[in-house]
Amino acid sequence: MTTIELQPATKGLHGTLQVPGDKSISHRAVIFSALAEGTSHVYNFLTGEDCLRTVEAFRKLGVRIDQEADKLTIYGQGIKHLVEPAAPIYFGNSGTTARLMSGILAALPLFTVAYGDESLAKRPMDRVVVPLEKMGAHIYGREEAARLPLAFKGNKLTGVTIEMNVKSAQVKSALLLAGMLAEGETKVYEKGVTRNHTEMLMPQYGITIHKNRNVITIPGNQQPVASNLHIPGDISSAAFFLVAGLLTENSELTIKNVGLNPTRDGIITVLQKMGAKLAVTNRTYVGHEPVGDVTVESGPLKAMTIEGDIIANLIDEIPILALAATQAEGTTVIKDAKELRVKETDRIAAVANNLTAMGANIEPTEDGLVIHGPTRLTGAVVHSYGDHRIGMMSAVASLITDSDVTIKDKNCINISYPNFFEHLTHIMK
Ligand code: S3P
Repeated sequence: MTTIELQPATKGLHGTLQVPGDKSISHRAVIFSALAEGTSHVYNFLTGEDCLRTVEAFRKLGVRIDQEADKLTIYGQGIKHLVEPAAPIYFGNSGTTARLMSGILAALPLFTVAYGDESLAKRPMDRVVVPLEKMGAHIYGREEAARLPLAFKGNKLTGVTIEMNVKSAQVKSALLLAGMLAEGETKVYEKGVTRNHTEMLMPQYGITIHKNRNVITIPGNQQPVASNLHIPGDISSAAFFLVAGLLTENSELTIKNVGLNPTRDGIITVLQKMGAKLAVTNRTYVGHEPVGDVTVESGPLKAMTIEGDIIANLIDEIPILALAATQAEGTTVIKDAKELRVKETDRIAAVANNLTAMGANIEPTEDGLVIHGPTRLTGAVVHSYGDHRIGMMSAVASLITDSDVTIKDKNCINISYPNFFEHLTHIMK
């Protein structure tokens, strides 16, 4: 197991960073380009392990994908030319690959088997399997196909109306992809607003889709066409450095080209409500996605309650927000975040364990966390639990502890941010 020992920051954090491409958009860029007819170029692709699983899945399905650093060239031949893989497909740690690919594999006339690592094998797949079965899918696996490995006896699905019972962009996207390939029209009723990258990308790849409030309608039998795509920086990766800059004394940091899609920017809203010195400048667009530069300066924070609709908008940022809350004046309450229990690890337990080990006053609840601040943090030995975001949260915490922090299993950070430690060293100089 790979371990790293990190020293507190003594001089403050300074400089400018460009975080890697957005993870959610990178997965989707590969999916649409690989299903498309024609050659697509994808720029600023996230070369983290998760997105490379989606690349590998399509290579197994017979699509040629060339990678040169963060640029992909995807030689789509169209849906009809995908081939049945001779071996099982490995999704690694990637929930997004598992859920989105399930929508596709169920709908193609191919037999496929897919499996994941120890963490992914524990995560719920019934949330996609059950609605796909309503469309006529034949999916087999453990616990009535609620867990990977899964076998897909792909066949032509039928468009249906589905009312989602979980707020999940992965489930929504799986159903829209299945709907795009099915016979007839599919209607998805969303339970709440979740990231909308799938809906935004579909028209760019020539796919017809309609959205009316919480209802998304997609006609079936659609063949995507190739498109070139530039991917904005990942706000979920930027979040670690934004909080690092706010918490570490004498810091000023700018993160450039950060994706600011309104279904993803809850972290900015919350940090500003907590009184953060945070400014967004140079607002523009990368493709259809809004982006901007975000500058933070260290300063005091105040506690707040984070609950309700905004939770889905910042679900991946809750571990780092919990760290911010340990330094805020007052009691921060995070509620309605039960989904954190079924992420790469149980993030409610992992955040509470690691921050408690560092001396924070934090209690896990069934659906969130209660954090009393501010508390001085101390050095400790903690575990990433194989979860990239727990690893990065713990690394940011080490900047403000009074002695060294050791993080066990640091390599999982490669899942979403391969150059995280390089960037950390760069701003500490
Ligand atoms: C993602 C959706 C979210 C998020 C994950 C990426 C996506 O998961 O936590 O990191 O790309 O659609 P859920 O759909 O399970 O909420």
